[in-house]
Amino acid sequence: MRHLVSISDLSKEEIVYLLDLADRLKEERRNGIFKEYLKNRSLAMIFELPSTRTRVSFEVAMCEAGGHALYLNWNDLQLGRGEAIKDTARVMSRYVHAVMMRVRRHETVVEFANHSGIPVINGLSNLEHPCQTLADLQTIRERKGLDAVVAWVGDGNNVCNSLVLAASILGFELRVATPEGYEPDKQIVEKALSENTKIKIMHDPVEAVKGADVIYTDVWASMGQESEKKERLRVFKPYQVNSELISNADEDAIVLHCLPAHRGEEITDEVMDGKQSAVFDQAENRLHAQKALLIWLLGVEI
Ligand code: CP
Ligand code: NVA
Repeated sequence: MRHLVSISDLSKEEIVYLLDLADRLKEERRNGIFKEYLKNRSLAMIFELPSTRTRVSFEVAMCEAGGHALYLNWNDLQLGRGEAIKDTARVMSRYVHAVMMRVRRHETVVEFANHSGIPVINGLSNLEHPCQTLADLQTIRERKGLDAVVAWVGDGNNVCNSLVLAASILGFELRVATPEGYEPDKQIVEKALSENTKIKIMHDPVEAVKGADVIYTDVWASMGQESEKKERLRVFKPYQVNSELISNADEDAIVLHCLPAHRGEEITDEVMDGKQSAVFDQAENRLHAQKALLIWLLGVEI
C-alpha cells in the first residue's frame, strides 16, 4: 500500500508511469471514452481549507472512472470536535478505498497516513502540494519536455517545495527566485541539492527567468498567511510576473500558476491572459493526473 504525502514518495520511474497514464486518460476523455477503472471504489475528501480545483478535479475523476467521492468538511466531521486523527483514519479505512486531505499542518496528513489502512493523498498542506506537481509535470512535459529549464518566481511555499523535490527526482534545471527570508523549506532544499546540482536558490527574478522555458509563480500569501498579507505585498513587489519580466525568458516560454491567482499582485492580467500562459491547461491536467494517481494507488491494472 502506498501514499502520496510528499512528491518524494514517488520514484522517477513512478512519476513517468503516472504521467504516461495521465496522458492516456486525457486522450481517452477527449475521444469520449470513459472506462469504469474505479467502479465501486470510494474516495473520502477531507478539507480543512477551501478549494476549487482540487475538490472538483478529484470528484470528477472518481465519477468519470465509475467511482464515488465524498466531500467532507473538517468542521462537519467529528474531527472538528476533537476526534483523534488516528481514530478517524482507522474508521475511514473501513469505509472507503482512499482518502485525500487538505490540511493546515503537514503533520496532520503524515499522522493520518501512519494510521491508515488505505492510501492517503496530500491534497495540499503548508509544506507540500504533490498533486499540483503531478499536473505541473504533465503540463511541462507536453509543452516543453522534461529537460526544460524551469524558473520559480515569488514565494518559496508549499507548491515550490514540491517542485524543488520534483526537480531533484527528475533532474531538470530549476531556478528559484524569492525575496530573502522566503526561500523554500531548508530541509527540502538540502535534500534536493544533494541529488541535483542544477537547482539554484537565488534572489534575482530577472536572472532566474533568463532563457528559461517555463516561468512559474503562485500567490504571495498562502492560505493561513492572511495576517502577513500587507507585509508580503511590499516584500514581493519586485517579483511580479509581468510582460517585462517574461521578456527575459525564451520567447516561447510558458507561464504557469497553480491558481487561484491574485491578478495584479504576483501576476498581471496581461500575462495570465496572454499567449504564453498555460495556466488553464495546467488546471485541466489536475483531473487527468489525479485520475491516473487514483488508478495506480488503488492497484487497478489497466
Ligand atoms: N491549485 C489548487 O490546488 O487549487 P484549489 O485551491 O482551488 O484546489
Ligand atoms: N500556495 C497556495 C496554493 C493554493 C493552491 C496556498 O497554499 O494557499
